[in-house]
Amino acid sequence: MKVALGADHGGYALKEYVKKVLAEDSVEFHDFGTFSEDSVDYPDYAQKVAEEVAAGNFERGILICGTGIGMEIAANKVPGVRAALVHDVYSAQATRQHNDANILTMGGRVIGPALAGAIVKAWLSSRFEGGRHARRLEKIRALERKYSSGE
Ligand code: RB5
Repeated sequence: MKVALGADHGGYALKEYVKKVLAEDSVEFHDFGTFSEDSVDYPDYAQKVAEEVAAGNFERGILICGTGIGMEIAANKVPGVRAALVHDVYSAQATRQHNDANILTMGGRVIGPALAGAIVKAWLSSRFEGGRHARRLEKIRALERKYSSGE
């Protein structure tokens, strides 16, 4: 599995920690930045990672900003992306099993590294259950098609 990583200045430190967690578990990743705590705009990094995931170049993405909220909102504008803001292990599992979330977002100013590491491990190891959940995702895709401008 290949994971695309991105963060703004509010998520930079936690992104660096998540890279260690991924490396320890031998998970392949690419870091799309940012590479310091200098102030940047989170939609730029959400766009990079979301487009890579939507294009199929990476199976999953992880985006971190101060709260995780801005990254979630921005990433979900890219068709094909199902980005989920997660700050607990139960939701990390559920959003894979039920929502087939392909991007995980977290807030570097909300949770600490130990919980974030547990969330990442649970999220990467949980599988989509299909069945009734697949029907619901198809309804989300229909919404996406209905409101997509095609730009
Ligand atoms: C940056 O200060 C902050 O707004 C950003 O990291 C994020 O929390 C936005 O949702």
